[in-house]
Amino acid sequence: MRSIVIAGNWKMYKTRAQTREYLATFVPMIQNRSSDRNVVLCSPYTSLETLAEGLEGQNVGVGAQNLHWEKEGAFTGEISAPMLQELKVTHVVIGHSERREYFGETNQTVLKRTQAVLAANLIPIVCVGESKAQRDNNETETFIFQQLDEGLDGVNLAQVIIAYEPIWAIGTGETCESEEANRVIGLIRQRIKGEQVPILYGGSVKPTNIDELMAQPEIDGALVGGASLEAESFARIVNYVD
Ligand code: 13P
Repeated sequence: MRSIVIAGNWKMYKTRAQTREYLATFVPMIQNRSSDRNVVLCSPYTSLETLAEGLEGQNVGVGAQNLHWEKEGAFTGEISAPMLQELKVTHVVIGHSERREYFGETNQTVLKRTQAVLAANLIPIVCVGESKAQRDNNETETFIFQQLDEGLDGVNLAQVIIAYEPIWAIGTGETCESEEANRVIGLIRQRIKGEQVPILYGGSVKPTNIDELMAQPEIDGALVGGASLEAESFARIVNYVD
């Protein structure tokens, strides 16, 4: 059985005060979830310690949204594994399409970051996904396979989580049809030969479509942006009906 992972990616949202407020509502709402559901919240660096404190004993992972491969050094604006470990971080999102698009992330830097996450005994959530133009040109598979081949080259997949996030479905309200997400995730699984690797779907996941997405056999969970910002909405996603 593969693990089920429901992860929220807050992106660049929420101050520490807003994080505390969120947890006060969210934590009571996820108390009765099935024990097989792993929940992770990925916040800006500034809220990580607040999250870790507020989630103590709740069996909820605390995720960062990036990590540099060196332990320390002259890398202005970056953050390293030991710094995150000290804050009790458990997961790190790597290679999100927003980092690839706006901050020059490449498959090569994804590989370096992923290796560093694993070396620190943290869990990487490695993101892949095609643009609208690539999909329209029938390049979805070749593009994603290249992201996987280069970004995970030689990586031991035992602790890796992958998120399939079609770029055209992110923040647009245009969810990938659940059958199509299931199909692409099946192809990803074959490509990486990782029968046990949890592969999540991300892109306009909402309380209204999570049940249908999770009913698909290849979809092991969700990486949720906008709908994870409201405690009630993310709690409903965590408590999806199967
Ligand atoms: P939305 O759920 O807002 O579409 O964002 C998805 C995402 O990018 C999660 O990492």
